[in-house]
Amino acid sequence: MLHSTKPIDNATPLDDISGLKLPADKVYTLKEIYVAEANNIAVATLKYLSAPPSKKVAPFYYEWLSTLHEEMFGNVWEWAGKFRHVELSIGIKAYQVPVALKELSSDIAYWEVNRTFDIYETAARIHHRAVQIHPFQNGNGRWSRMLANIYLRQNGSMPVKWQEDLLSNVNPKRDEYIHALKEADNGDYTKLIEMHRHTY
Ligand SMILES: Nc1ncnc2c1ncn2[C@@H]1O[C@H](COP(=O)(O)OP(=O)(O)OP(=O)(O)O)[C@@H](O)[C@H]1O
Ligand SMILES: [Mg+2]
Repeated sequence: MLHSTKPIDNATPLDDISGLKLPADKVYTLKEIYVAEANNIAVATLKYLSAPPSKKVAPFYYEWLSTLHEEMFGNVWEWAGKFRHVELSIGIKAYQVPVALKELSSDIAYWEVNRTFDIYETAARIHHRAVQIHPFQNGNGRWSRMLANIYLRQNGSMPVKWQEDLLSNVNPKRDEYIHALKEADNGDYTKLIEMHRHTY
C-alpha cells in the first residue's frame, strides 16, 4: 500500500505502481518514488543541460524522443521510453502517438531549417506539442519541459527553472504554467513563450 501524500494539482495520481523497478523488499511512499525519479532525471539533466548539447547528443529525432524519456525514468519504471497503450484524460488516442511524434520531430527539423520561429517560440511549441501528444504513461510533463530546455540550451539560451518542487502542493508557477498550456491549446502561445523567454 502506498502511504498517501497530498495530491499535486493536475498531476497524474500515482495509483498504479505496476512497473516500479525499485527493489521489492519494501513498500515505497509517494515521496520516495518522486525522489527516485528526481535522482534518475538528474542524470539526464547533467547529460543534456550542464553544457550546450550537440546535435549528435540531442538530435530531436523520433527515436531520440523516446530515448530521452527512457533516460529520465528508466531506473524507476519499466514503461520508461515506451509508448502508452491506454487512453488518458490528457493526450491523443494511444494509437495515434507514433505518427504524431514523427510529425513533431519532422516539424522541429523544418522549423530549424526555415527559422520559422525564434528559439523561445520553438521551445514553447515543442513543449506544448510534446505534452499534447502525451506519449507515455506518466512523466510527460517532466519530459516535455526537459525537451524544451534541451532545445534552449542547444540554441544558446539557458534552461528554464521550472521549480520542480513536485512535492509542493502550492506552487504558483505551476498554476501559471498549466494556464499557459491551456491557452496554447486554444492557439494563443503568448504566455507559454514568455515562460520560456523568462530564463531567470
Ligand atoms: N489541462 C491540463 N491540466 C494539467 N496538465 C496538463 C494539461 N494539459 C497538459 N498538461 C501537461 O500534462 C503534464 C502532466 O502529465 P504527466 O503526469 O504525464 O507528467 P509528469 O511529468 O508526471 O507530471 P508533472 O508535470 O506533474 O511533473 C503537466 O505537467 C502538463 O505539462
Ligand atoms: Mg505525472
